[in-house]
Amino acid sequence: MSQPTIESVLKEKRLFSPPAEFSQNAHIKSMEEYSQLYDKAKADPQQFWAELAEKELDWFEKWDTVLDWQPPFAKWFVGGKINISYNCLDRHLKTWRKNKAALIWEGEPGDSRTLTYAQLHREVCQMANVLKKLGVQKGDRVGIYMPMIPEAAIAMLACARIGAPHTVVFGGFSSEALKNRLLDAEAKLVITADGGFRKDKTVPLKQQVDLALANNGVPNVENVLVVQRTKEKIEMESGRDHWWHELQLTVSADCPAEPMDSEDMLFILYTSGTTGKPKGVVHTTGGYNLYSHMTLKWAFDIQDTDIFWCTADVGWITGHSYIVYGPLSNGATSLMYEGAPRKSNPGCFWDVVEKYGVNIFYTAPTAIRAFIKMGEELPKARDLSSLRLLGTVGEPINPEAWMWYQRVIGGDRCPIVDTWWQTETGGFMLTPLPGATQTKPGSCTFPFPGIIAEVVDLDGNPVADNQGGYLVIKHPWPGMMRTVYKNPERFRRTYWEHIAPKDGQYLYFAGDGARQDEDGYFWVMGRVDDVINISGHRLGTMEVESALVSHPAVAEAAVVGKPDEVKGEEVFAFVTLEGSYDPSDDLVNELKQHVIKEIGAIARPGEIRFTDAMPKTRSGKIMRRLLRNLASGQEVVGDTSTLEDRSVLEKLRGGV
Ligand code: PRX
Repeated sequence: MSQPTIESVLKEKRLFSPPAEFSQNAHIKSMEEYSQLYDKAKADPQQFWAELAEKELDWFEKWDTVLDWQPPFAKWFVGGKINISYNCLDRHLKTWRKNKAALIWEGEPGDSRTLTYAQLHREVCQMANVLKKLGVQKGDRVGIYMPMIPEAAIAMLACARIGAPHTVVFGGFSSEALKNRLLDAEAKLVITADGGFRKDKTVPLKQQVDLALANNGVPNVENVLVVQRTKEKIEMESGRDHWWHELQLTVSADCPAEPMDSEDMLFILYTSGTTGKPKGVVHTTGGYNLYSHMTLKWAFDIQDTDIFWCTADVGWITGHSYIVYGPLSNGATSLMYEGAPRKSNPGCFWDVVEKYGVNIFYTAPTAIRAFIKMGEELPKARDLSSLRLLGTVGEPINPEAWMWYQRVIGGDRCPIVDTWWQTETGGFMLTPLPGATQTKPGSCTFPFPGIIAEVVDLDGNPVADNQGGYLVIKHPWPGMMRTVYKNPERFRRTYWEHIAPKDGQYLYFAGDGARQDEDGYFWVMGRVDDVINISGHRLGTMEVESALVSHPAVAEAAVVGKPDEVKGEEVFAFVTLEGSYDPSDDLVNELKQHVIKEIGAIARPGEIRFTDAMPKTRSGKIMRRLLRNLASGQEVVGDTSTLEDRSVLEKLRGGV
């Protein structure tokens, strides 16, 4: 099994029509309906989004201007007043959904909990009041570093309720990575838990927070709110650290949602780019609310009777948009799972599907490839007949994995919805609409209505059918990121200047190569920049290099992605040592541990190769293309004439 190559997907001709019964009951029932929506949105995007914003969301005050576009800076629903926590909670309390399950949580080991909309609202109001009590005001940033427990969603909604932008840091990130994010966001308070259960271990989250804050490491943080989860013994610093379950008893459950300006910041989410420092992607309130709501409604055809399970962690954009905000804004039931498939419980996902009768299931290709390896017996031993739609995200899905997903998990009756999008886009961009679109295994098909996507060359000219090029978006959309936190120039440079503006129109480009086939289907081929994709997680090679060179033994490091059957890619590091250090297995292990400490386990190099010198051009640039070839065991292809010292290549080849 391998990642799709242009050659393999070019041959892909299979076409799957939506099941007739599915289409009949879907929000969008046919390709004609999709085309009408698409054309309408293209002709007048502002009118299209304004109608949906009016119909689908509750506003405290209507906007004056739908879109203010000063390229590359967009403002949507300018002057409108809205609160996403109100749209996710309060408005449902006035309907029969009041006592509907909002969150179903399956915890570890063996815990579970269901919160109705009324119950979730109550807890969110309480946490919002606790935050206020601890001095958090509208506009203050709050860090959230949590395991996958309901309080993670409660914390996000509580922040949104009082207008305090949250920055969720994935619980697998190290204290160092947490510290850097809290510092950049200038967070005033951190919400965490004593620990979390991950696979068959506990993770000491509060201890990581203590390390991040030690020696006044993040001066802005005044308080830490701690949720009790594992009940392991932790240190509580008097005056700074507070137990949530204690403060919860001291506040009222009444906390009206703050009317926010549509363009007020809702959250910052850090993501990897091509520099050593992750960037703070800023999303604002009104546009993001509408976009996460609409994409879930149409692309996953969410219905009131559905139980929807997105297996992502709330620490990623997928968890933000499709565990918390999108489902709750739609009044859906969102399932949250603390566990993960592992050796001791490889079939746990299928147990959860059967236990709750999950209808819509959304996961990543890396998970699907791991399931294929584990064998069909596990899913076949469970009743998966409740499933009616399957989604995938995070990386290109190889046609074999797509077919397996459809046959073994979907019983040949569930449409497969391959969604291409990014932290920056807020929600799905290229995706089938399951009642309308004929699917091809490995293609994320067509743009969501309102999205104008193209594959172009560096000058912004569209390339011919089946030619590889850069995937760009031509018109602003409500869910787009607004800026890089505190760094608008970096926003402009990173996303809007790689591809030349065309006919005065700015083109959004965030790093993927793609092609469009003769039927107009989009095929995303993967990143074309120095970002690698490990199990659907984005990692900048420079980030890992910075981590490696911060170790005293390392003089220089170059990191590339090496293809991996299950994970998609894995970190492969070439390292030159400082003079006094000798290569050894112990040093390899030490460096791997060092990267885990600096970033987190997701960045752990699969392989570290010591080398006396790096292959460089005469101007001193490391030739990563050569390193990528070497790491994947391929022949070195292309021009090597600019290499400064050709013997380096021979040595490296011998080494690998
Ligand atoms: O390379 C694309 C890949 O994941 C990148 C975005 O990563 P992140 O911001 O972490 O968000 C992941 C979840 C939305 C993209 O630039 N990617 C995401 N979905 C797909 C994909 N590549 C191919 N097909 C997809 N469906």
